[in-house]
Amino acid sequence: MKITNVEFVISAVKPHQYPEDALPEFALAGRSNVGKSSLINKMIMRKGLARTSSQPGKTQQLNYYRVNDSVYLVDFPGYGYARVSKAQRQQFGEMIETFLSDRKPLKMVLLIIDIRHEPSKDDCLMYDWLKHYEIPVCVVTTKADKIPKSKWDKHVKAIKQALGFRGGDRHVLFSSETGLGREALWDIINEQIEV
Ligand code: GTP
Ligand code: MG
Repeated sequence: MKITNVEFVISAVKPHQYPEDALPEFALAGRSNVGKSSLINKMIMRKGLARTSSQPGKTQQLNYYRVNDSVYLVDFPGYGYARVSKAQRQQFGEMIETFLSDRKPLKMVLLIIDIRHEPSKDDCLMYDWLKHYEIPVCVVTTKADKIPKSKWDKHVKAIKQALGFRGGDRHVLFSSETGLGREALWDIINEQIEV
């Protein structure tokens, strides 16, 4: 997709700060350090707009990026980062749960998983939770550049199996390093906007 315009809109902590223009939203969920912010940068072709870090726990709010004045990508704090305090983890959890359970413009959650590893317990919980609330999900296996191409299939299969991936769900193989999967993911997003 051709990116003509990207705007960082807000770092929100409370629902009253979420945008009110009702444009379709696509939220990114996944473990800390899995590459959510990097994926946004690759999708919008702006290297440093979403802040990334080799240290987990970089993203701490719901960060809204408006793309081509037509869609929001919403960057989430990662889960499973042990060094975040218990109180803060609970606060993240509540913020994310509130958002996911009653955010009307939310069209789909992109569940980002490191292709090198089996999904964590938290990944499986998140997936089950999304299914329970009937929120459309696209599983994105990222960091594909980190393993040889010959192993992609085997890893993707194992991840899908561990999640209990359902037939109707979408999946994209991705790399923020090489741009693999970028067009496929935009296609899925654009399709989902129409649903
Ligand atoms: P939190 O905000 O802490 O939840 O992390 P995040 O999921 O936003 O991860 P972030 O995008 O900050 O990336 C974490 C690290 O992984 C950075 O060092 C990135 O450069 C690296 N990384 C992310 N995606 C890829 C990828 O596709 N390939 C490779 N090789 N490295 C990646
Ligand atoms: Mg981040």
